Amino acid sequence: MHNATRKMTGIEQIMSTHHARPIFRIQATVTTLRELSPGYFLLILHAPELAHAAQPGQFAQLRVVGQDVLDPLLARPISIHHVDTAAGDVSFIFKVVGRGTALLAAAKPGEELIVLGPVGNGFHIPDTATSLALIGGGVGMPPLYYLAETLRRTRPALGISLFYGGRTSADLLLLPEWDALGVSVYPATDDGSLGYHGLVTAVLTPQLVTIDFLAACGPRPMLQAVQGLGLAAKIPGQLSLEARMACGVGACLGCMCGTVSGGRRVCIDGPVFALDEVVFDV
Ligand code: FES
Repeated sequence: MHNATRKMTGIEQIMSTHHARPIFRIQATVTTLRELSPGYFLLILHAPELAHAAQPGQFAQLRVVGQDVLDPLLARPISIHHVDTAAGDVSFIFKVVGRGTALLAAAKPGEELIVLGPVGNGFHIPDTATSLALIGGGVGMPPLYYLAETLRRTRPALGISLFYGGRTSADLLLLPEWDALGVSVYPATDDGSLGYHGLVTAVLTPQLVTIDFLAACGPRPMLQAVQGLGLAAKIPGQLSLEARMACGVGACLGCMCGTVSGGRRVCIDGPVFALDEVVFDV
């Protein structure tokens, strides 16, 4: 990550040479860190610059102050889950899956984290859409929540359903909050401990006749299945891809994905791509 070794003095606004929107590098204070379910953490940062600039579907790279700056994989890309612009707070939900996220999970309220964001292209739901299906798996849910929350405010007449999959009921988070948003939730679990016993795409399939736009975020097999369903039913949509990232701002080409127009960077050209744009088998 360029500039990563430079001593930070508070707020920096950096601009990727490949990217038109501002990206901030800040030190943000942890206000809340709470385990929602085994291994899943809610992290709230006081980060007014990020709160005012963020769009649903964007993410930030989070890093604990003082950790090895020569190890770029310790800065983890985490999707934005909720923004409180009045308070200047930004919420994230992440799952501990390695050293970078384990270090984040050990942070304490009052501690500062190094934050790079907001990064990437967010979701854009066309004005013509009247019935939106959100499809989320695991930690693919948080950016969909931010999207639904924003749409509830800006387009209250839009019908929104959530098709939410996980291995067990412990992977399905914030169901009361989704209910409070007025979103119809269709849970599915691999072990049958909550909702449909099987893949979330099996729950989505019979509902497609009522849907005119799809927005999905989650594991690659789920996204590929959603793409197949959307193409077969001629329903447009957008997919938010996950990728291993290093620089996070378009410079290292370490997060490439296949698209119909060639290789693109997930961090800065995505993470949200048109449903019919992504080529999975490359
Ligand atoms: Fe470096 Fe995307 S993470 S280009």
